[in-house]
Amino acid sequence: MNLIVVVDENWSIGRDGGLLVHLSGDLKYFKKRTYGKTLIMGRKTLESFPGARPLPGRRNLVLTRRSDYAPEGCEVFHSKEELTRQLGPDTSNVFVSGGENVYRQFLEDCDTFFVTKIYQSFPADRSFPDLDQREDLEITWKSGVQEEKGIKYQFFEYTRK
Ligand SMILES: NC(=O)c1ccc[n+]([C@@H]2O[C@H](COP(=O)([O-])OP(=O)(O)OC[C@H]3O[C@@H](n4cnc5c(N)ncnc54)[C@H](OP(=O)(O)O)[C@@H]3O)[C@@H](O)[C@H]2O)c1
Repeated sequence: MNLIVVVDENWSIGRDGGLLVHLSGDLKYFKKRTYGKTLIMGRKTLESFPGARPLPGRRNLVLTRRSDYAPEGCEVFHSKEELTRQLGPDTSNVFVSGGENVYRQFLEDCDTFFVTKIYQSFPADRSFPDLDQREDLEITWKSGVQEEKGIKYQFFEYTRK
């Protein structure tokens, strides 16, 4: 299972229900990595998308405890166990896509982490664990440094040792 996230220098990921900053290069990268694949997300992340609509061209699996929640174009699950049963054993095309609550529940199920690091810090109310502190993970690929709107950022891939 994979995980994909964009973090700032403090491993912050969100504020007021949205992303810290919109970088079109990162959104394109997210699309390239996940197109045709399966996304797992929390209800709040779905609601952060434009029009609270699922992302096209991908299977959108959404977690909520609300029994009457049925957003169009999504598959809704009410527990991690229910969702995991539906996935089956091959999770190589599955991407955990946030937010904080869902990332933390699935972190140990993932073996590949696609992390965009933004070289700035932003006010935030959601965060992600610092993968550079993890001795069981290593960086196995990184892109060159990108720049947009004066903001530098870089794509990394972490895998289990
Ligand atoms: N930087 C990034 O890469 C990135 C990516 C995605 C999101 N984000 C940001 O992260 C923030 C949202 O994160 P968040 O932690 O507030 O919310 P979230 O993880 O998106 O959603 C949390 C909700 O998911 C449902 N849920 C979670 N685990 C569940 C379980 N085991 N069983 C049933 N339902 C479950 C619950 O929904 P109910 O309340 O409906 O029961 C819970 O309130 C936003 O600011 C967003 O922009 C950042």
